[in-house]
Amino acid sequence: VSTLTSLQIRDEFPITQACTYLDSAYWGPYPRRSAEAISDYVRKRSTTAFPFGRADQDRVFAGEVRSKIAGLLGVAPEEIWFPRGTTDALGTVAAALLAPGDEILVGGLDHPADYAVWANLAERGIRVKVVPQRGGRMNPEDLERAITAKTRAIGICLVNTYNGYRQSLDALSRIAGEHELYLLLDAIQGIGHLRIDLHKSNVTMMSAGSYKWLCSPEGLGVAYINRDVIGNVVPHNVHFYGIEPESGGWASFIPRILEYGTSGLGPQEIPSGTLNYPASAIRLEISPSIVSLVGLNQMADLLNEFGGMGSVEARVISLSMYLRSVAQEHGHSILSTSDPEHMSGITSVLVPSAPGFAEFAKRRNIHIRERPATPIATDAVRVSPHIFNDKSDIDMLVEALNDYRSSHI
Ligand SMILES: Cc1ncc(COP(=O)(O)O)c(C=O)c1O
Repeated sequence: VSTLTSLQIRDEFPITQACTYLDSAYWGPYPRRSAEAISDYVRKRSTTAFPFGRADQDRVFAGEVRSKIAGLLGVAPEEIWFPRGTTDALGTVAAALLAPGDEILVGGLDHPADYAVWANLAERGIRVKVVPQRGGRMNPEDLERAITAKTRAIGICLVNTYNGYRQSLDALSRIAGEHELYLLLDAIQGIGHLRIDLHKSNVTMMSAGSYKWLCSPEGLGVAYINRDVIGNVVPHNVHFYGIEPESGGWASFIPRILEYGTSGLGPQEIPSGTLNYPASAIRLEISPSIVSLVGLNQMADLLNEFGGMGSVEARVISLSMYLRSVAQEHGHSILSTSDPEHMSGITSVLVPSAPGFAEFAKRRNIHIRERPATPIATDAVRVSPHIFNDKSDIDMLVEALNDYRSSHI
C-alpha cells in the first residue's frame, strides 16, 4: 500500500513543476531525493576521505541496492548484477552462452540497440534469425514455429519500444521451457513501471538501463540472471571484485602476483583455472558506477514507498487507459493495444504530421516523442506517463492534439 499521496509523488519529481513530461520511455527524470543524494555524495567525495565512512563501504552499499532491486523483481540478490546498461548485459550473456553454429531467434520489431547486439553475435558465427512481427506485435506462436534443431535461444524485448506491446511472460516462458531454450529479455521498457514476476519463470536473463523508467543516472543498468544458469556463464571479462569474494577476494591475488613477479624466476605463466567464480551474478559485474547507484538506491526506496511494483503498474496503466478514453473521445486513434494483459506505460497515438506535432507540443512545454507504431503506422507519437504524471497531464496533451488538428485542417 502506498504511503505517498498523488500530490506527494508529484512533489517527489521536480520535473512536474517545470513541464508536462510524458516521455519516460526515452529518459526518466530524477526524483528530488535522488538529485539531493547524488549532490551530497559528490560533495562528500570531494571533501571527505570516504563518503561511506570506510574505504570499502561502497561495495557494501552496492550490495544493499542489489537487495532492493532483487526485492522489486521478486528474485534473489545473488541473481542481480549491475551492468552498464541493457545492451552490455544482453551481449555479455549471449556471447557467453552461445557458440558458433548455435541459432538465436530475435524479435522483428525490436530496438536498434538489440539489432546491434544480435548483429555482433552474427559476426561470431552465431546464426541470428529475425522472426517477423505482425501488426506491431511479436506472436509467441511465430517464434515457436521458427524453432529448429539448432535453436538455443530467444532474444526479444519484453515491452515493445515503439507501441508498448507487452509480451506474455508466461507464453515466452512456456516456449523456452518446452524447447530448452535460453530466454534473453531486453526489459528496459518494463523495469521500473511494470510488475514483472520472474518467480518460477524460465527467463534466463533480463536487463534494463536505469535511465528510463528507473529514473536514475546513465552508465548503470540492472540485470537478472537465473541462478540455474549462472554457473555456465564464464564471462569474457572479469573484475577483481567479482571473483573469489568468498575466499579472500582480490587480496588473495597479491601473494600470487608477488610470486609470479619475483625477479630471478624468469617470465612466469599463469595457468588456466586459477580463478574461482562465485555462484552469483556478481561474477558478471564490472565497476558499476557508484554515483549512479546512489540515485538508483533512492528510486528503489521511492518505488517501495509507492507500494511496490504492483501499485506502480496500476497507476501507470490507469493513466494509459485514461489516455485511450480521452483521446478516442476526441476522435484521435490509438495505435497500441487496449488488451490489459498486453498494455504498458507506452501508448502510440496516430497523429498526421507527427514531427510537427512533437514541436507544437514542445512549444506548450509538453514532452512526447515522435515514433512509428509499426513499420506501416509511421505517423504517430509515443506517450509514456510515469507515476509522477496525473490525469491533468493527459488532458493537456489531448487539448494540444485537438488544437494541432484544428490548425491543420
Ligand atoms: C528497447 C531498448 N533497448 C535498448 C536500449 C538501449 O539500452 P542501453 O543504453 O541501456 O544499452 C533502448 C534505449 O533507448 C531501448 O529503448
